[in-house]
Amino acid sequence: MTSEGYDSAMLRVLYQEQERELAMSKHSTKQEDITVYNPAMTEIQPGAKIGSGSKIGSFTLIHSRAVIGKNCTIGSHCNICDDVVLGDNVSIQTGCHITRGVTIGECTFVGPNVTTMNNKYIEHPAREEEIPPKIGSRVRIGGGSCLLPGIVIGDDVLIGSGSVVTRDISSGSTAYGNPAKCKSQS
Ligand SMILES: CC(C)(COP(=O)(O)OP(=O)(O)OC[C@H]1O[C@@H](n2cnc3c(N)ncnc32)[C@H](O)[C@@H]1OP(=O)(O)O)[C@@H](O)C(=O)NCCC(=O)NCCS
Repeated sequence: MTSEGYDSAMLRVLYQEQERELAMSKHSTKQEDITVYNPAMTEIQPGAKIGSGSKIGSFTLIHSRAVIGKNCTIGSHCNICDDVVLGDNVSIQTGCHITRGVTIGECTFVGPNVTTMNNKYIEHPAREEEIPPKIGSRVRIGGGSCLLPGIVIGDDVLIGSGSVVTRDISSGSTAYGNPAKCKSQS
């Protein structure tokens, strides 16, 4: 990665931090107006913000600094990490791992077993090297897809199932494959 690319990636992280702060201020911490299907088998850590009308499946873990919008659905066996920000009406299907700092715009659908990645060269431990993916609004992500660190998916994108997204995908595109290639543009 060029030094120029690294700089822009770091700026993106700072921007995402600002988005997270904004989202934190918008949502209440009320827990009574959400549905947790199986509270004994779901962990919502203290401090997590979950918008009204949202539903959480079994065996799911919502970390303490996650921010979830209104009317979201989080399926079973999901891991929603710290600093994740989900817009309103987001649907995350069963078995998704959404890594620290990922932002997802409103009305986006994330199919089953989608995984995001934050750390390109898997340094451990190296939190400061993490560059989470950013996903736009009204995006549909096919099941089993893998989103690599720092990629940006624009609005109104369709990602085919089983895709490995290694590069940014511009708004309005349909992309799929390994690596995911843009097949059409609206
Ligand atoms: C991406 C998608 C929308 C494409 O649908 P489509 O435009 O009707 O495309 P087609 O089925 O006509 O396939 C066109 C070509 O792309 C290939 N293709 C389609 N989807 C693909 C995918 N996800 N990965 C790799 N190749 C794919 C087909 O094999 C076909 O190749 P060919 O022309 O060599 O035979 C669809 O295949 C898909 O992946 N949908 C996501 C389903 C999903 O995960 N839903 C989650 C909720 S259950």
